[in-house]
Amino acid sequence: MPRCAIILLACSVAVLLSVAQAADKTVYQYVIFGDSLTDTGNVFRDGGVPDPLIYYKGRFTNGPNWVDYLNATLSSKHPVQIYNYATGGGVACSINLNNTRYPYARDAINQTGNFLADLARGKIPTGKDIRRISISWFAANDIMVALSRALTAGGDPVKAGMEIVSSLATCLAQHVGALAAAGVHEVVLVPQSPVQMAPLVPAYLRSPVAQLVSGVDVAVVQAVAAVNAQLEAAPPGSPASRAHVYLLGDSKWVGRVIGDVRPAPKYFDKSCFVNPVSSMDLTPGLAARICTDPNDHAFYDEIHPTTAFHKWFGVNALLPRLQMFRLAPRDV
Ligand SMILES: *[C@@H]1O[C@H](CO)[C@@H](O)[C@H](O)[C@H]1NC(C)=O
Ligand SMILES: *[C@@H]1O[C@H](CO)[C@@H](O)[C@H](O)[C@H]1NC(C)=O
Ligand SMILES: *[C@@H]1O[C@H](CO)[C@@H](O)[C@H](O)[C@H]1NC(C)=O
Repeated sequence: MPRCAIILLACSVAVLLSVAQAADKTVYQYVIFGDSLTDTGNVFRDGGVPDPLIYYKGRFTNGPNWVDYLNATLSSKHPVQIYNYATGGGVACSINLNNTRYPYARDAINQTGNFLADLARGKIPTGKDIRRISISWFAANDIMVALSRALTAGGDPVKAGMEIVSSLATCLAQHVGALAAAGVHEVVLVPQSPVQMAPLVPAYLRSPVAQLVSGVDVAVVQAVAAVNAQLEAAPPGSPASRAHVYLLGDSKWVGRVIGDVRPAPKYFDKSCFVNPVSSMDLTPGLAARICTDPNDHAFYDEIHPTTAFHKWFGVNALLPRLQMFRLAPRDV
């Protein structure tokens, strides 16, 4: 090929690329729902917990959480909007909410309602360049609450377990279905956490809790497939007809991330807290009773991982999966 033609070709490719980049004015807007793993200060604003002496700025960990890390990575290159409705103590099923114990915790229906109210009031920007993507991460509290209720009540543990599994899958399906019906086209569901790994769960309960968690994994896959089948069958032109639910994996994936964190923590089954307390109780003065190097521990308190996990999860696990489904820009 003559030299001039090669140069011309190179020039055209460069021009085309820059046109493509300039044309991409997409603003990624993430609307987020969940519990204390995801709350970036909602419960703190309403109730002053978790205790700021020992937790970082309303996050239920010793530093930023996955939402902060995801935002920081994306917004270094792209305009990003975050609307976070998650609360500590948040649950997928209303029956698992205990507002006597945790007055500021909100269930999925309330969190979704708060988002829809903000949307109706025009507090959330909408426009042709805005891609609205919801991300929901629930289930850990549901499993803990439902399990302790079942254990207290006695009765047949197998039957109780089956009920927990099916009701949780139903609640999650209703939550993502409600978002799709409200016109969110891209609905992301983060799989449940492997709660059996939390230091709170005593050794003798780890295996039964792990079985329960596996049951939830299977049920959620089926429930999400059913929701997607309904969305595909929705009348053309209805909000739901353009929506899809993306289930990003299962609890084993989240569990592997805990093992992948680098530098690797030294302790996985004992938390940094020397004296376990509930992160939802205000306990001033407790600062003296946390360990000196939290990131030696996979878990900060009895249920919440340290910020090192959040960083790894947000940037090295969740982001690549979002990118795989084109739910996040790929050049970060
Ligand atoms: C996201 O990160 C940007 C850049 O650091 C920051 O300005 C913005 O406040 C962050 N948004 C949230 C919701 O934290
Ligand atoms: C809610 O929490 C309160 C206070 O801890 C407790 O007494 C009550 O039994 C709980 N209710 C349910 C339904 O778990
Ligand atoms: C969510 O719950 C809070 C506290 O009960 C309430 O003030 C708020 O109105 C609820 N939101 C919706 C949309 O129902």
